[in-house]
Amino acid sequence: MILAANLKTNLTREKTNKYVKELEKFLSGSKSAQEVLVFPATSSLDKFSTSAIIGAQNAYLAQNGAFTGEIGLEHLEEFDIKTILIGHSERRHILGETQEFLAKKFAFYMSHGFKIIYCIGEPLSVREAGHERMMEYISAQYEGIDTEYKNLIIAYEPVWAIGTGLTPTLEEIENIHKELKKKSPAPILYGGSVKVTNAKEVLELQNVDGILVGSAALYLEHFCSMISYADEIEKLAGEK
Ligand code: PGA
Repeated sequence: MILAANLKTNLTREKTNKYVKELEKFLSGSKSAQEVLVFPATSSLDKFSTSAIIGAQNAYLAQNGAFTGEIGLEHLEEFDIKTILIGHSERRHILGETQEFLAKKFAFYMSHGFKIIYCIGEPLSVREAGHERMMEYISAQYEGIDTEYKNLIIAYEPVWAIGTGLTPTLEEIENIHKELKKKSPAPILYGGSVKVTNAKEVLELQNVDGILVGSAALYLEHFCSMISYADEIEKLAGEK
């Protein structure tokens, strides 16, 4: 399974270093078979020595150039970073990134072979407008995106569930992932208020290939417990 920690605008360089070091200790000690990804804040990116995949939360769609406040491809290449989050709801809704812009960013990083975690999800008002409206809204987030891209991972994150402690029911997650599976062969992660207390039941769902964790991942022990849950679930499935 895939377990991703989105550290957002948290953890300084020093704290991120410590986080990744301790995570690595856990991963090598537990011999976990999971694909673990960590997305540090941009200024905390570095060449880490870890089996976890380090990704960027964001970068501009250029090698370099006059894009004040942004980093480009060469800043990621400096640290051998080949993984990026695109379309996170905070970038769509707080930073105002449009679907058209995201599709261009997607195409740029795809052309450079990046693993892309592409995020989709609906705000509460859309969910409340009914299933059909919700699927329409989510479908629009696939516009301009190559859903067959081999290095694509989708993350379904309802906007109203991010950082709020609210989540859809397990049945709702299962059903929407099932529908989303028809749109793309890519693995699908669930994200939005995944905690150490609900991670296991989410990971156990049929059409969930992993989780994207924000706030709870800041507690490294919690994130490590989630990785262990995934190991346990796979072990049990293997014994069946
Ligand atoms: P959360 O964030 O776990 O704090 O809800 C998830 C995300 O935004 O990726």
